[in-house]
Amino acid sequence: MAVKFVMKDEQVKELKERIAEHKQKPGPLMPTLHDAQRIFGCIPVQVQKLIAEELGESVAKINGVVTFYSHFSIEPKGQHIIGVCLGTACYVRGSQQILDAISGELKIKAGETTEDGLFTLEATRCIGACGLAPVFTIDGKVYGSANPTVARKALEEYLQK
Ligand code: FES
Repeated sequence: MAVKFVMKDEQVKELKERIAEHKQKPGPLMPTLHDAQRIFGCIPVQVQKLIAEELGESVAKINGVVTFYSHFSIEPKGQHIIGVCLGTACYVRGSQQILDAISGELKIKAGETTEDGLFTLEATRCIGACGLAPVFTIDGKVYGSANPTVARKALEEYLQK
């Protein structure tokens, strides 16, 4: 379930100012997208349309770039980002069960955000902590040698905050 996205006037103003600066130099698209991601936290279609108008590009082109790079996201992300590693070392040690357990608790699939905007669940590639496999992360904090019970306990802590 997606969190509702609203463009605030001051955010639009800031992005337009940044675009005006970027247009002075060659290749304004990428810096504009980085700014849009920072300002709005994501680049949904409304923002893509605004960028397209300001840069005189097609929305299709903007959308193509946004969806190509994983750094950019189209949907708003939750307050807490949970990543479950599905890299080989973690996968063979049962990270899929961890992902399923979190998914069941939060009632969202990988790539989705809870309706209250509290959590985004992501399946990730190897995060370089294979020695601790299977791992998951919450806001960058690594939980190693994990299992569904560890994951549920970790979630409870965040739910109580
Ligand atoms: S495979 Fe999960 S950290 Fe490397």
